[in-house]
Amino acid sequence: MQLVEADLFTWRPPERYDFVFFSAWLSHVPPQRFAAFWALVADCLTPDGRVFVIDELPAVAAVERPAAAQPVPAVHREVAGGQVFRAVKVLYAPDELQGRLDALGWKADIRTVGWRYFSTSLRRRRRSTC
Ligand SMILES: C[S@@+](CC[C@H](N)C(=O)[O-])C[C@H]1O[C@@H](n2cnc3c(N)ncnc32)[C@H](O)[C@@H]1O
Repeated sequence: MQLVEADLFTWRPPERYDFVFFSAWLSHVPPQRFAAFWALVADCLTPDGRVFVIDELPAVAAVERPAAAQPVPAVHREVAGGQVFRAVKVLYAPDELQGRLDALGWKADIRTVGWRYFSTSLRRRRRSTC
């Protein structure tokens, strides 16, 4: 196994993978980077590669501290020691996420897990050859 520490918005995959997994990450991708991020995921995959994603549902907003007047949806997060940071936090309703992924050529099977989480298995929709 190889561990790489990198900025995912500039990192390029050195090879293709059968499987890509990320949890508690998609909600931190700024909306304007959503399409480019999913293009990166596609570039990481072998032709039959699969993706599995876990993240949080909009109901989580009730237990977050929204940051007002930000250029992207964001929340305040306090770390040990009391410092407070802003974190991008985009909470997609399953239907909305499904629509956005569909528009980018992904086939996603989104399932909710309790009130807080969703999980989804994804693959690239095959392009028509005719
Ligand atoms: C909510 S945490 C989730 C961590 C892990 N998936 C888990 O479930 O424990 C989000 C992670 O994204 C990382 N992160 C934030 N911006 C990043 C970036 N531009 N490139 C790579 N990682 C980033 C943070 O350091 C943090 O570890």
